[in-house]
Amino acid sequence: MKTTSTEKRIIIALDGPAGSGKSTTARRVAGELGYVYIDTGAMYRAITLAALREERSLTNTDLLPLLEDYHLELVITPDGQRTILGREDVTQEIRSPEVTKFVSTVSALPAVREALSKRQRDMGKNGGVVMDGRDIGTVVFPEAELKIFLMASLEERAKRRLAELGETTLSLQEMCRQIDERDKQDAGRLVSPLRRAHDAIEIDTSHLSIEEQTSRILALARERILA
Ligand code: DC
Repeated sequence: MKTTSTEKRIIIALDGPAGSGKSTTARRVAGELGYVYIDTGAMYRAITLAALREERSLTNTDLLPLLEDYHLELVITPDGQRTILGREDVTQEIRSPEVTKFVSTVSALPAVREALSKRQRDMGKNGGVVMDGRDIGTVVFPEAELKIFLMASLEERAKRRLAELGETTLSLQEMCRQIDERDKQDAGRLVSPLRRAHDAIEIDTSHLSIEEQTSRILALARERILA
């Protein structure tokens, strides 16, 4: 069921740790509702890529000019969201292990968060969006009509990431260690840490399929759209 033009177009905030199934679920929910899906992690990743390419130190003062110099855009195409940095499509490159290793450090910087949160608010202010990240329900859109906090066991999340990577020499144990480290950095930072908003609905996806997750969230969304 797509929404009709007379229906309310709400903001859906989807937060949770790495590997909890946010992006796949958010994309599907957005597709079903005819909403725009916005992956905010891609914005933090793109700035991290720019910083690594320019060999900047990962500090507020060094990265603030980058945020002003670089044109960063999320383009919605029929095949999904593309991330554009300057004039270059960096959709693939922002998923590299190097970017993944440093993105939590970059996303802990207050100047980076302030600049990107502002852009995210602009992108979603008219509603009709499913936005995924770590602080959407707490900081970016505390007034979102629907807030979901997805989680899953560490082992399950590590298995999913390994499956996504395909051929890799990383062991399950090593992937658990890497994800755990990123969770701790994301949840332990001073500014906008990863945490569940008090009014977010928590869904444990450890034993749910993508279809089940999607249909639960769609049911909750439709209740609010029709309210
Ligand atoms: O969802 P992801 O793994 O692509 O996110 C990459 C990193 O960006 C993640 O480690 C934390 C950070 N992030 C954030 O701090 N706030 C957001 N709204 C989205 C992502």
